[in-house]
Amino acid sequence: MTFRSPHVTVFPDARTAASVVAARLAAALRERPALVLGLPTGRTPVALYAELVKLTAATGLDWSSVTTFNLDEFVGLEGTHPGSYRQFMDAHLFRHVDIPDGRINFLQGTAVDTEQECQRYEHAIMAAGGIDIQIAGIGTNGHIGFNEPGPALQSRTHRAILREETRRGNAALFGGDPAQVPAEALSMGMATILQARAVILLAHGSSKAGCIERAVNGPLTTDLPASFLQLHHDVDIVLDAAAATELKIG
Ligand code: PGA
Repeated sequence: MTFRSPHVTVFPDARTAASVVAARLAAALRERPALVLGLPTGRTPVALYAELVKLTAATGLDWSSVTTFNLDEFVGLEGTHPGSYRQFMDAHLFRHVDIPDGRINFLQGTAVDTEQECQRYEHAIMAAGGIDIQIAGIGTNGHIGFNEPGPALQSRTHRAILREETRRGNAALFGGDPAQVPAEALSMGMATILQARAVILLAHGSSKAGCIERAVNGPLTTDLPASFLQLHHDVDIVLDAAAATELKIG
């Protein structure tokens, strides 16, 4: 456990940050082969997954008892859709490690009853014994998963309406066209995320500098969902130099 939380570490570049977090995850996995991981998608974790794949190939990391829960998925997309987060995870991580398919947990974007699907996910996390380490990125608007800024947050896994900036941020998965990005998603809630035993938040680049400063030092506010990480006793915020430029470290 870190003494002060959120605990912020700044590395000169994103690649170094990724390799340090990958080494931490590899150590956790060796110590506890049945590790339960919460995982994000987006540009941010790409280098981390690449490092993990490299470490796995080089050192024979055993993923056969690991369980994963991804943070979110688009409503209406099958896991086979090229824009789905499931496809992203297959491409960047799952295909390259020996994790059994049955241990990979994803919200089903095509569920007929999305409310029931969200409850199923909460129960599955509980049945797995809870998440040991939740990795997360942060949106420029301060979202985590698809917990978008607004007058109120839903604490548990829920169906969310995506903001325009979030759809723009995901356009690359849909041929560069934000209009093709689904308007809704299923997402773990902030309470779901905060129940993980440890949280590692990654952020790179100057576009994240403002929201990182507010998440670490600003007031708790639903206008910046990441600010709720201040309530957790074991949060590591891992930044490159550009994402730390507005940070006032007291
Ligand atoms: P990014 O997205 O990693 O592509 O910047 C992060 C997020 O929106 O959570």
